[in-house]
Amino acid sequence: MATYMHLGEQVDPDAYVICEYRVTTELPMEKAAAAIAAEQSTGTWTDLTTTTERIVDDYGAKVLSIEGDRTVIAFPVEDFSIEVGGVPQILSVIAGNLFGLESIGKLRLEDVTFPKCILEMYKGPRFGAKGLREILDRPEKPLVGTIVKPKIGLPPKETAEYVYEAGAGGLTNSKDDETLTDQRFCPIEDRTIAVAEALDRLASEGHRMVHAINVSTNGDKIVELAEKVQSWGAKQIMVDVITCGFAAVQALAEDPSIKVPIHVHRTMHGALTRDPLHGISMLPITKLVRMCGGDALHIGTLGVGKMSGDPKADLANLNACLDPMGGFKEVMPVCSGGVYPGMIGAMVERSGRNVQIQAGGGVAGHPGGVRKGAMAMCQAVDAAFEGIPVAKYAETHPELRIALDKWGMR
Ligand code: 3PG
Repeated sequence: MATYMHLGEQVDPDAYVICEYRVTTELPMEKAAAAIAAEQSTGTWTDLTTTTERIVDDYGAKVLSIEGDRTVIAFPVEDFSIEVGGVPQILSVIAGNLFGLESIGKLRLEDVTFPKCILEMYKGPRFGAKGLREILDRPEKPLVGTIVKPKIGLPPKETAEYVYEAGAGGLTNSKDDETLTDQRFCPIEDRTIAVAEALDRLASEGHRMVHAINVSTNGDKIVELAEKVQSWGAKQIMVDVITCGFAAVQALAEDPSIKVPIHVHRTMHGALTRDPLHGISMLPITKLVRMCGGDALHIGTLGVGKMSGDPKADLANLNACLDPMGGFKEVMPVCSGGVYPGMIGAMVERSGRNVQIQAGGGVAGHPGGVRKGAMAMCQAVDAAFEGIPVAKYAETHPELRIALDKWGMR
């Protein structure tokens, strides 16, 4: 971690939450940074008759550095309501009003580093990457999964058939898509039971697989819904962190009755992350998901999938899942969105092997159907794992050959 000075003294990293912002402003940067620090801690747009020098000294955010359009600001730990406020209060400090300040043009929270006393309040993933691998008995190779497609429309029986076919083709994971929860055409209870039967059938045939049931719902219902789907046989649950909130992930991860891993989707993140000059980058989101206990998290496709994304930023997200942090378990980084077999070599070259690669269209769009689509994905992962060029591997693997013919290579 970088060391910072303030007023000639080295800043104690255990006493502050340290944030890096990118600022686009017509103000001199010193003024802009000071305005952000003030607005988010002890100040406002005018001077106050109610504050004191002591309040500003003790609780005022401090501008540690300014370099080009970037500034680093430190928030004293005392500004955080550590036990009660949780992530909602953390975000209201480091990512609250500041985005709407008229005097600042654009603003992006790029990174955050938490002190030990805050990290200690979080438990992190219960299973994490290693736990998922143990459940699936897949110690080394990338996990390889699918998202049931079409994302809405299939009834429970067809959903379960899809999952069975995907498992029979060798996939380790599958999941509901982010827009599927409990619609009339596919009630969550019937779907969970049917999928559990498909997974049991695969297990009886010697293949381990999990399917994440999407429990994203209102805050007062999410734990209860997760308990129910677990009782109906779910082996993994999924939650959309941006739409449901970090507190929902934490509630699921820390509830003792929930005993299955949590797959964290990030739908809607683009509203926060896409503009390189404004919003919140995926890096702080990744760190918060890890603290809150997500076991697997979508991190991008490292520049090769259908969703926009800077490969360097995706790699930083991946590292934030896996690098040492607060003694937390590693989060399984998930590459998802427009993935097909011909891009897996390039992806694994960037990601390394500790990753979950998944494809919806890249499985269900295979001309031979879901099972062959799953086989083609597994073959592409095997080729990448063994360091064999995918085109060469396809010479002896017809399912992969057909996938390469349809979608090409990256
Ligand atoms: C996801 O949940 O990541 C997307 O639904 C992926 O779907 P795709 O593989 O068909 O792009």
